[in-house]
Amino acid sequence: MSAAASRILGVGTYVPPRVWSNHDLSRLMDTSDEWIQQRTGIKQRHWVDLNEETGPSDLALKASLKALEAAKTKKEEIELIIFATLSPDAFFPGSGCFLQAKLGLTDVPALDIRQQCSGFIYGLSIADQFIKTGTYKKVLLVGAEVHSKVLDRTTRGRDVSVLFGDGAGAAVIGATDGSAKDGSRVISTHLYADGTHAKELWIKAPGTAYAGDSITHERVDEGDFFPKMNGKTVFVHACKKMSESLTRALEQQGLRPSDVDLYLFHQANARITEAVAKQLELPADKVFNTIDRFANTTAATIPIGMDEAIKAGRLKPGMLVACAVFGAGFTWATALIRW
Ligand code: UT7
Repeated sequence: MSAAASRILGVGTYVPPRVWSNHDLSRLMDTSDEWIQQRTGIKQRHWVDLNEETGPSDLALKASLKALEAAKTKKEEIELIIFATLSPDAFFPGSGCFLQAKLGLTDVPALDIRQQCSGFIYGLSIADQFIKTGTYKKVLLVGAEVHSKVLDRTTRGRDVSVLFGDGAGAAVIGATDGSAKDGSRVISTHLYADGTHAKELWIKAPGTAYAGDSITHERVDEGDFFPKMNGKTVFVHACKKMSESLTRALEQQGLRPSDVDLYLFHQANARITEAVAKQLELPADKVFNTIDRFANTTAATIPIGMDEAIKAGRLKPGMLVACAVFGAGFTWATALIRW
């Protein structure tokens, strides 16, 4: 039987304990706390211990167990795992399979999705559709990243490497018949992409679109295995697309920006969030930011924002939450949620 809607039953997060301040990075490359804070709002990020065998599925496991507890859900009740990451444990198979095994589950389908900073909202939309059609009642949605091991931590890569942090966020999404008094549910999700900008932010290798072998010493020397970004282009599109899509999502529901209790935007740069808030004339106290502490954790950013907002007492049942995200692809997406 199909469900009226889906709702977020609980969230959990995990970040590795080791904190790298901007000062710490200035010992690895030619950068400064002043530059990073002024240009991005980032003060620190969490990175895994580079000597340990830690992949995103390990961070995801810890976040998932917390989400299951918050959702009062037994892991055996999970019928689908959706894993959003751009830094998977391995080229294949997907990190969802690694997570499924670490959770001790078998037979549960595990789906990896690759929409980068938009991954969690894309995943929420997929979970929402599966639940509304009655295919599954409980879905585990995870966004997890280990960026640190694929960043060029030298001056050559400083425009990108100072921006990213490691971490994981998970949510248990469940069916609701719509009878909850607070109306808790996923109200809408909207997904977008524009692949003409795919190479504005990407990792070229390893890939199979090369002539010849994918992995060569020359490509290692060229830094093709590290992310490359045309920062200004990404910046401009992020501001424009997040503002436009959020406005459209609100209009579609007959809502005004002032009806929203909390805004959770993707955290790539504090200046992007400020620009979107300015354009939509949002009061600063309705926009919840985490970039100063966690930097850009890509697919983990939105669930980390949700969890931190709950812990800070800023996100409570019954609130109207608006999410907007933008990332590589380009991909972008919105979600309106009655919490
Ligand atoms: O998560 C996916 C979405 N990602 C984004 O949305 C990121 C969007 N882009 C941005 O956030 C910004 O473009 C950046 C933070 C990446 C860069 O900020 P910017 O204000 O666009 O700086 P810039 O690239 O124009 O660089 C200004 C200067 C350059 O030096 P010159 O050419 O003016 O001498 C850079 O070489 O800053 C230099 N620079 C740095 N200096 C110290 C670049 N990175 C660094 C660094 N430390 N880490």
